[in-house]
Amino acid sequence: MVKAKKRLGVLTGGGDCPGLNAVIRAVVKTAENEYNAEVIGFFDGYEGLVENRFRPIDMKDAPGLLTRGGTILGTSNRADPFHYPVLEGDDYVHLDRSNQAIFNFESLGLDVLIAIGGDGTMAASAGLAAKGLRVVGVPKTIDNDLAGTDVTFGFDSALVTATDAIDKIHTTAQSHHRVMIVEVMGRYAGWLALGSGLAGGGDIVLIPEFPYDIEAVCDQVKLRKSQGKNFSIVVVGEGAKALGGEMVVQRRVKNSPDAIRLGGISNRLASQIEGLLNVECRVTILGHLLRGGTPSAFDRLLATQLGVKAVHLAMQGEIGRMVSWRHNEAESVPIDDVAGKLRLVTPKHPWVKTAESIGVCLGVPAGISIEKYLTEMVHQ
Ligand code: F6P
Repeated sequence: MVKAKKRLGVLTGGGDCPGLNAVIRAVVKTAENEYNAEVIGFFDGYEGLVENRFRPIDMKDAPGLLTRGGTILGTSNRADPFHYPVLEGDDYVHLDRSNQAIFNFESLGLDVLIAIGGDGTMAASAGLAAKGLRVVGVPKTIDNDLAGTDVTFGFDSALVTATDAIDKIHTTAQSHHRVMIVEVMGRYAGWLALGSGLAGGGDIVLIPEFPYDIEAVCDQVKLRKSQGKNFSIVVVGEGAKALGGEMVVQRRVKNSPDAIRLGGISNRLASQIEGLLNVECRVTILGHLLRGGTPSAFDRLLATQLGVKAVHLAMQGEIGRMVSWRHNEAESVPIDDVAGKLRLVTPKHPWVKTAESIGVCLGVPAGISIEKYLTEMVHQ
């Protein structure tokens, strides 16, 4: 009897980022080249699996995909199959549609689903895996906050965009002797703020993990002034907050597993600094610019290697895993181990130590270690 072709499903869930199409391309190419397998793509993340909306993807789709931003499959950050929003009258109710997702997967004769996404997609995938869905995850997000991997694709491209923006902001800061505040996304993690702050030569970098002391921030501006530097660049993560203060919530998105959308801390910070010092501040919020555009060379390489690895795992029956980038190569971890866990910046991280060594203010008073500050002033 002739063995039927193996069949893979692929979907992209959560917020888009550069590199999603590069993974799709790597999946299709590896499936066809190495395994003579076929691929179908579900539209709009898990929404497509629950509602059985899909299309075949093959080599004809590959040209141009490597460099194209966004995702040709569409995505959704509201389509948790276990908590699926369904319109009833004027409002949404949330139903468990996980059985429907598994039914559709089996009916299509799929061997494995490759789910490309962030923490929400990995959590949904882990839940479906526990119910028998054969799934392999691929970690994406500009936030770089997924557990189990040293880096997610999308992060480097966002870092390049943010750094470029900070470079450009420098000229106005210098010409007008201003405090220029650049706000970057990243949700509850400070990777993007810290990385771009260091790469862009920020003088003050404020991240969600270290609630900032406004006096320490102002002291740094004053110190620079006393050294003849009449301007300062502040890079702030959208999830940052003042000591004893709250994160700034911009909006709440109905039906989203994490309804909170952050944004606006930079305006609050500008008022705080202007209230305490005789300086002029300006604010630039980079927002979704960071999610757009063509992937960086690093992200193309990473996305391609992760996509290839995902297909190998799927074909070798190593399911219920998320591919990860560790020790400079593609590995994998149980998807269960990463679901629901965030990887945040720690005081001991080399980027933090580097920032301290070169005199970047992280919102912590001079002369006190970050560990001590967090224990004694933040978590007391
Ligand atoms: O997780 C990626 C991310 O861009 C975060 O950095 C940001 O907080 C959030 O998504 C924004 O989500 P939305 O596109 O729904 O506004």
